[in-house]
Amino acid sequence: VYQQKQDDYELMAHISRFFQQQLKTAKDKETAIDYLKGRGLSGEVVKRFGIGYISDEWDGVMNTFSNNGQANQQLIDLGMAISGEKNRPYDRFRGRIMFPISDKRGRVIGFGGRVLGDAKPKYLNSPETRIYHKGQELYGLHEAKQANKQLTRLVVVEGYMDVVALAQHGVDYAVASLGTATTFEQLQTLFRTVPEVICCYDGDRAGRDAAWRAMENALPLIRDGFSLKFVFVPDGEDPDSLIRTQGQKAFETIIDNAMPLSKFLFEQLMQKVDMSSLEGRAALVESFQPYLAKLPDSILKDSMLNEIANNFGTGSEQFLAKLTKNIKASA
Ligand code: UTP
Ligand code: MN
Ligand code: MN
Ligand code: MN
Ligand code: MN
Repeated sequence: VYQQKQDDYELMAHISRFFQQQLKTAKDKETAIDYLKGRGLSGEVVKRFGIGYISDEWDGVMNTFSNNGQANQQLIDLGMAISGEKNRPYDRFRGRIMFPISDKRGRVIGFGGRVLGDAKPKYLNSPETRIYHKGQELYGLHEAKQANKQLTRLVVVEGYMDVVALAQHGVDYAVASLGTATTFEQLQTLFRTVPEVICCYDGDRAGRDAAWRAMENALPLIRDGFSLKFVFVPDGEDPDSLIRTQGQKAFETIIDNAMPLSKFLFEQLMQKVDMSSLEGRAALVESFQPYLAKLPDSILKDSMLNEIANNFGTGSEQFLAKLTKNIKASA
């Protein structure tokens, strides 16, 4: 049992290999292969990301990996099987394209599984387990590190398919935040890896909300030399659809011109007030304070303070001093 964690990683690696093998040997492998081809993926990229398949059966994993009660329990603990009330445990993932999720050391810790058709849920993910903590992991980070000796920036997207499609088109430095909004822990990991992080979420309400939350979560991490930027993809699109229609070059031009955090913050807060009235402008100055309070002291922070004092305040020394004092007090 002391080796338990060790065994967990070994078992997950074996299961991942089994899914990859199923893509070559399952009776209905053609359906899965056609699906992946239909999404524009080459065998090389499928292999690089360890993408696999599991047929729609109740016991594909169970039959292969469980031989006793202890193994059953381990499969349940790792989120690969579900314990029935009376029956023996059955497979969690059935009839899905399988994306292995690796930790930064490259050990498989969980999976995301996509249905081939329109069934719900579209993606099924591993639950939290003793080796998988989703708010802390980033899908594709290990693969991005493998592909790039010298990573200088990372693009954060929402989905597995976005990461893989970007890699397919030569943008091999994307990671996905695994469903939830990008967390503080994930942003911490990102900024420990690169100085520039570009959020590129889906062009819908959820994607725009995710950008705002990522901005809020990142504020304490933005020291001089580090930047968070945003790309807003057109409504109804996501990075996968965008790169497929635009290609690598156009996509990277969009990334190169991403909106810096400061601009995003200014634009969003300005939208909420009536800029034509003094009351509105005062409310704007007020609304900046909690965000600025979260930023570490930096040249960027000073510049933002100046910008606010000059453009929305009186521009006087006294005004700037008062604003700075307010922010210190609310920090
Ligand atoms: P999307 O619905 O944007 O999926 O969810 P997608 O990646 O564009 O899907 P495709 O292109 O139709 O294959 C983005 C991410 O949200 C999580 C998954 O991580 C997914 O990649 N998600 C989505 C789920 O966990 N479950 C769902 O049912 C849907
Ligand atoms: Mn743990
Ligand atoms: Mn979406
Ligand atoms: Mn999407
Ligand atoms: Mn998509």
